[in-house]
Amino acid sequence: MLGKIVEAFELLYLHVAVKVYEGLQQRRVRKLFYHDRKFQALDQALLQGPNPFRLKEAFPYGETPLCSLKQIADRCGLKPEDKMVDLGCGRGRGVFFLAHHYGCQVHGIDKMRDFIDQASRLKEQYSVENASFLCEDLRNYDFSQATFVFFYGTIFSEEFVRELTEKLKVLPEGAKIITVSYPLEGFELKDQFPVSFSWGTGEVYYHLVSK
Ligand SMILES: C[S@@+](CC[C@H](N)C(=O)[O-])C[C@H]1O[C@@H](n2cnc3c(N)ncnc32)[C@H](O)[C@@H]1O
Repeated sequence: MLGKIVEAFELLYLHVAVKVYEGLQQRRVRKLFYHDRKFQALDQALLQGPNPFRLKEAFPYGETPLCSLKQIADRCGLKPEDKMVDLGCGRGRGVFFLAHHYGCQVHGIDKMRDFIDQASRLKEQYSVENASFLCEDLRNYDFSQATFVFFYGTIFSEEFVRELTEKLKVLPEGAKIITVSYPLEGFELKDQFPVSFSWGTGEVYYHLVSK
């Protein structure tokens, strides 16, 4: 009985801690990025859409906070001429952010049809020419043209990651692969640094493709 009460309090504590974290993050997003009215309108529309964290099919869902995404993009040198791909882009918040603030082509792939349909609608509504979305298993993506790959794949199995690693071998020389939580074997590791997520600090790995 006591164990169950402790467990319930732990869950409640976690829930409150994540809510507080998200509130603080959103305050920073408003301060840092909402001076750009077009991005503000798009981001608000996205946040007012269906809540992905409540979607049973997407459980356990997670998102890279925009301030953390900016930290990653800056440190790994995302450029306007890059062809960036977000593997498992969720509702596409990061795709819109990067397309808007870095001016590169950003492609989001996710297996959840609802995410991709909503993101595609917003892309049209807000005329975001340099963002695109695809509903597909990310292992089927043709990586031969990509120059910057982001994979926040904390919950994927070892076998899945091995399969993906094989597919990434067609990336062109000089392409960058960024992963969260673990590095990928077979690619040169250029940098490693901590970044903030709602669940705590995650380690980010920056690899360079060299042939
Ligand atoms: C942790 S979320 C990452 C969201 C986003 N990349 C970010 O960093 O904010 C992982 C996403 O991967 C998607 N996903 C899981 N397995 C997939 C697969 N085999 N193919 C495509 N998407 C997948 C899930 O639907 C989920 O939206």
